[in-house]
This record gives sequence, C-alpha cells and structure tokens, in this order.
Amino acid sequence: ATGDAEAGEKVFRKCKSCHMIQDAEGNDIVKGGRTGPNLYGVFGRQPGAEEDFGKKYGKDLIAAGETMPDGWMEEEFVAYVADPRGWLREVLDDNSARSKMSFKLTDETDARDVWAYLVSVGPA
Ligand code: HEM
Repeated sequence: ATGDAEAGEKVFRKCKSCHMIQDAEGNDIVKGGRTGPNLYGVFGRQPGAEEDFGKKYGKDLIAAGETMPDGWMEEEFVAYVADPRGWLREVLDDNSARSKMSFKLTDETDARDVWAYLVSVGPA
C-alpha cells in the first residue's frame, strides 16, 4: 500500500457509520454500522463476497466481483470509493448498473490512506 495508515484511520471515521472492522474471532477493531459489509480483510477479497453481508449485496457488485479473481486491490478500491456506481458501470460495461453504496470518497490521497489503514489492520 502506498498510503499513510495513520491518516487513513481518521479517514475511516467517514466510513464507520456503515462499515465495521471486525476480525474472524469477532473482536471489534472499529465498531461500526451494518449498512455495509465488514471491511476486515477486504484486501484480496472478492468484491461482494463477505459472508455475513451475503444477500444484502447488490447484484451488480457481485457480478463485478465475479470478473475479479484477484479480489480488491488498491487501484480498484480507489476507483470504487471515488464513484461506486460509475465504477460498476465501467466494470460491467452497463449504464444501468446500480450501487447500494452511494457515498463517495473522491479525494485520492484519502482513499489511498484508508486503503493502507485497512491493510494494516487486516490479517497478515
Ligand atoms: C460496499 C468501502 C463508506 C455503504 C463497500 C465496499 C467497499 C467499501 C470496499 C465493497 C466491499 C465488498 O466488496 O465486500 C467504503 C469506504 C468508505 C465507505 C472506504 C468510507 C470512505 C460507506 C458509507 C456507507 C456505505 C458511508 C453508507 C452510507 C456501503 C454499502 C455497500 C458498501 C451498502 C454494499 C454495496 C453494494 O452491495 O452494491 N464499501 N465504504 N459505505 N458500502 Fe461502503
């Protein structure tokens, strides 16, 4: 990761109304909302594949994930959080694709920092 994890921890305040970070043993790294999936271990995870979130994912994110065998990587993540719906439309080449995440994090430095933070608190 190229970002600053410490700065990213602060950026994550914008995310935690909808996203928790909870490890596999159920320990809360960040207590957060359940509107969005747990972001623990998002690095390398297939988009749309966090098991507990399951059926709450939009079908378009799941379809995008099926085209991404390497899972979430920094560049895809940065593009996604800047414009989730636009990213889905591009990946799926479908201008009717919809995102269940409408929040946008358009500042690229903030996006790289929050990615670095998520990697730093994820599994080794
Ligand atoms: C999905 C990141 C803020 C609601 C996701 C995913 C990522 C992400 C990476 C895909 C996860 C996966 O494939 O398992 C972030 C970051 C945020 C943020 C870094 C802050 C900068 C928010 C906020 C909300 C939200 C504030 C609610 C208002 C959702 C929902 C999904 C999602 C509902 C599922 C999308 C779908 O199924 O189409 N988010 N998010 N997120 N996020 Fe966020």
